[in-house]
Amino acid sequence: MNILVTGGAGFIGSNFIRYILQNYLEDSVVNFDKLTYAGNLENLQEFKDDKRYSFIKGDVCDYDAVAGASQGVDAVVHFAAESHVDRSIHASHEFIRTNVFGTQVVIDAVRELGIKKMILVSTDEVYGDVEKPRKSKDGDPFKPSSPYSASKAAAESLAIAAIRTHEAPIMITRSTNNYGPYQFPEKILPLFITNVLEDKKVPLYDGGTQIRDWLYVEDNCSAIDLVLRHGTLGEAYDIAAENDPEVTNREVTEMVLDILGKGRDFIQDVWGLRPGHDQRYAVDSSKIRALGWKPSVSLAEGLKQTVTWYQGNEGWWKRVKSGEYQEYYKKQYRV
Ligand SMILES: NC(=O)c1ccc[n+]([C@@H]2O[C@H](COP(=O)([O-])OP(=O)(O)OC[C@H]3O[C@@H](n4cnc5c(N)ncnc54)[C@H](O)[C@@H]3O)[C@@H](O)[C@H]2O)c1
Repeated sequence: MNILVTGGAGFIGSNFIRYILQNYLEDSVVNFDKLTYAGNLENLQEFKDDKRYSFIKGDVCDYDAVAGASQGVDAVVHFAAESHVDRSIHASHEFIRTNVFGTQVVIDAVRELGIKKMILVSTDEVYGDVEKPRKSKDGDPFKPSSPYSASKAAAESLAIAAIRTHEAPIMITRSTNNYGPYQFPEKILPLFITNVLEDKKVPLYDGGTQIRDWLYVEDNCSAIDLVLRHGTLGEAYDIAAENDPEVTNREVTEMVLDILGKGRDFIQDVWGLRPGHDQRYAVDSSKIRALGWKPSVSLAEGLKQTVTWYQGNEGWWKRVKSGEYQEYYKKQYRV
């Protein structure tokens, strides 16, 4: 299969490209990415000379660029997005542009070029928070709480409309919080791990009572791959580790501190920085599990592996934190 991956220089996209190139020797991947602050080609450095991999710098809002990159592909996996909730609260325009308008552009290119399959990578955050012991489920109404999750819900609505009106060959995946290697250190786990490695405190929001489901990134990649190859067109699949027991943000922080051998004094409580903060996300992933998927890494194991990765890749995250990583593209592509 020849796959166009949008947003392939980001966290999940780069892990997905690695997953495909390592597991399917016959497949090839075109990585289409604008290289915003969140895009880092260093994530895929090991494939730069691999004939099955190519990179095109472009914006998903640019129809001609997307259509040009999509020539001859069998499928499009659409990850490209502005992805950070906090940023969306303070500056929403780019979220609407990329996540909503950009998704319509990708849908139009898929339809007009007759591409056989598209996956829209969405999020469990479209459901908003849900009270214990209920879990959100495909078919539940959307109740987004931030401009980020609202833009993802809007993107899903455009996909649903295209499926209904044009029989567009789209499937949707909605995963819970991913963690693992190559995650930009503005997100909670890599921020906390790298802060502790730099002997800095970790800012825990709003008492840390919020509950999230934590999914190891490679498990999300295997689920998206399963949907790509065996999912039913027009369907949406919720992907979750369904951590049992559920963990609060404070508990997950304490697990990280324990792995790093640090005390609770590293936690710095901060309040009010995320207005509209959802209390609990939990989704029912029985539909994707019925296709034969299950997560392979427990939270305790996944956190250990993640901490070990950040310990072993200090150069990567130090370059990201200092902004120096953005020089890589210029050096590599001599622009
Ligand atoms: N990280 C999570 O826990 C999580 C959970 C559920 C769903 N998702 C979804 O998965 C996808 C990937 O998330 P991530 O955490 O890897 O994000 P990320 O921020 O790490 O990466 C996003 C990538 O998209 C690229 N991009 C941004 N705007 C673009 C544009 N206009 N044109 C082309 N490329 C552009 C960036 O350069 C970057 O490489 C997103 O759609 C996000 O909504 C993420």
